[in-house]
Amino acid sequence: MCGIVGYVGDKPVLPLLINGLKRLEYRGYDSAGVAVIDEGQLWYKKKQGKISGLELEINGVDSKASIGIAHTRWATHGEPSERNAHPHFDQDYKIAVVHNGIIENYVQLRDSLLADGYRFYSETDSEILVHLIAMCYDGDMAFAIRKALQLVRGTFGILVLSSYEPDKLFAARRGSPLVIGIGDEENLIASDGSALVEHTRDVIYLEDDEMAVVDKKGAKVRTLQDKTVFKAVEKLPFDLTHLQKGGYAHFMLKEIFEQPDTIWDSMRGRLLVEDGNAKLGGLQNCIERMAHSSRLIITACGTSWHAALIGEYLIEKYANIPVEVEYASEFRYRDPIVSRVDTVLAITQSGETADTLAAVREAKQKGALALGLCNVVGSTIARETHAGVYLHAGPEIGVASTKAFTSQVITLALIALALGRMSHLSAEDGREIAQALKKLPDKMHSILKQANHIESIAKKMVTHHHALYLGRGFNYPVALEGALKMKEISYIHAEGYPAAEMKHGPIALIDAQMPVIFIAVKDAVYEKVISNIEEVKARGGWVIAVVSDGDDTCTSLCDEVIEIPHTIQSLMPVLTVIPLQLLAYYTAVIKGCDVDQPRNLAKSVTVE
Ligand code: F6R
Repeated sequence: MCGIVGYVGDKPVLPLLINGLKRLEYRGYDSAGVAVIDEGQLWYKKKQGKISGLELEINGVDSKASIGIAHTRWATHGEPSERNAHPHFDQDYKIAVVHNGIIENYVQLRDSLLADGYRFYSETDSEILVHLIAMCYDGDMAFAIRKALQLVRGTFGILVLSSYEPDKLFAARRGSPLVIGIGDEENLIASDGSALVEHTRDVIYLEDDEMAVVDKKGAKVRTLQDKTVFKAVEKLPFDLTHLQKGGYAHFMLKEIFEQPDTIWDSMRGRLLVEDGNAKLGGLQNCIERMAHSSRLIITACGTSWHAALIGEYLIEKYANIPVEVEYASEFRYRDPIVSRVDTVLAITQSGETADTLAAVREAKQKGALALGLCNVVGSTIARETHAGVYLHAGPEIGVASTKAFTSQVITLALIALALGRMSHLSAEDGREIAQALKKLPDKMHSILKQANHIESIAKKMVTHHHALYLGRGFNYPVALEGALKMKEISYIHAEGYPAAEMKHGPIALIDAQMPVIFIAVKDAVYEKVISNIEEVKARGGWVIAVVSDGDDTCTSLCDEVIEIPHTIQSLMPVLTVIPLQLLAYYTAVIKGCDVDQPRNLAKSVTVE
């Protein structure tokens, strides 16, 4: 979603801001803009479309500016257009504002500003901020911003630049992240550490209701109520190499191929193979309470919600704790029955998803133990939960989540193992699970070697407009995930179902034009899935199946098979999802789609 970057120092700021915006491109956007102060005056450029377009317009500009702000916009209020792109300006062109988030009471504020004679140039909710600040300005910009923000309801991460105080950047947040990068005689602010890391890894995370005044010497942080706060300088947990494609055509492909390493990073130091157990430092102080919860509610969105479904199966199987899985967007609004005896676990790659964050707040407010399973270190959900576990999968840049999913499942398996060993799971059973976990990276490698074979299947997939994904048991959520991957990056309409549900409706869709992708590995429900495949074949469907190595039955029954090595049933999803990620990837590439930045999608969904 929207991205923010700002710089103050001695370097020419325009190329630096463009570069920062490029680092934020992966978040999804439809227009971009910059504003700088050059010889005491505000100067700006905005452009609809890709940052490269904005860059082209800026390339020839002779500017000595060394302070500026920039933004990528993902449209919410008003169409994607130059007019609606940020920064927004006051009527005298003395103040520029970029904004992430949503101002909920903007209609009322706009009406009253209009009545006072203010003119609006865009259809956005964000523009009211700059007029409010102008209205409150009386010689002290920090004061004006604080005062203006008292009038708004909603979420914001804002960066303000003004020719009234031309050496300073002003940043404030409520519900939308901002990170300050501390350099040597230069400082930066961004909505995401990836725009900072090539300049510095020393950062200060702004918390809700805090405001920073930043010049090239340093950053002063106070609350929006003007109280001093002490901020620790932390280290970004990644470097520039994590943000480069490393020879792969796309970030998504790189991230798919990284998975043998990233799942190992999620297990490293946590998996105790000899003891048949797992130790999760982040849960150390609350695992007892978690184990004695009356139930565990896992809440998440999208791919993370699919991982949550697998978590339900894992934790119920090994730890015997009742688990419910709920979309965060539903959980937050339906006044759920949650109390002190429950544990709520939020799963999120970004740690910033607005619905998941709201669910965490709801859970905390109702007295539940709120835990987080996040990838992004220092993210809002990681900070707001009582405790949690990091995935350690490294930055995920491709908009379609891949490596975060497998690390989520691995981490859930570790949690299930640790909880199980606290109750009825024997050391011997624990060792079997631990050993299977340890062997997963090698097994993943052998699946990735089949990329060319999967690409050849993708070549046949591209002519189709719909696809059905079917799986049972632990592989039902994988069917959902495979379908989501296909639809979001290739724009082929795909649906996932529990295989047995097919005959209750979707079977009506089956004909020769309908690819049906089965997960048909040799597990407890294998024979049932074979029957479902027979039903599809009997109706002329085109069957692609992910099967266990050497499965002759499936090979003769299905049109295409992708063979994968065996592991215990509960860990199968970590392997079965890989061919489906690759199938979606190659289909999208052959169709000429923008794999890393699919249309309309954002990496971090910070609006409801
Ligand atoms: C799909 C995808 C999304 C996210 C969802 C939740 O590939 O990436 O469905 O999984 O927006 O995001 P997080 O995990 O950051 O809360």
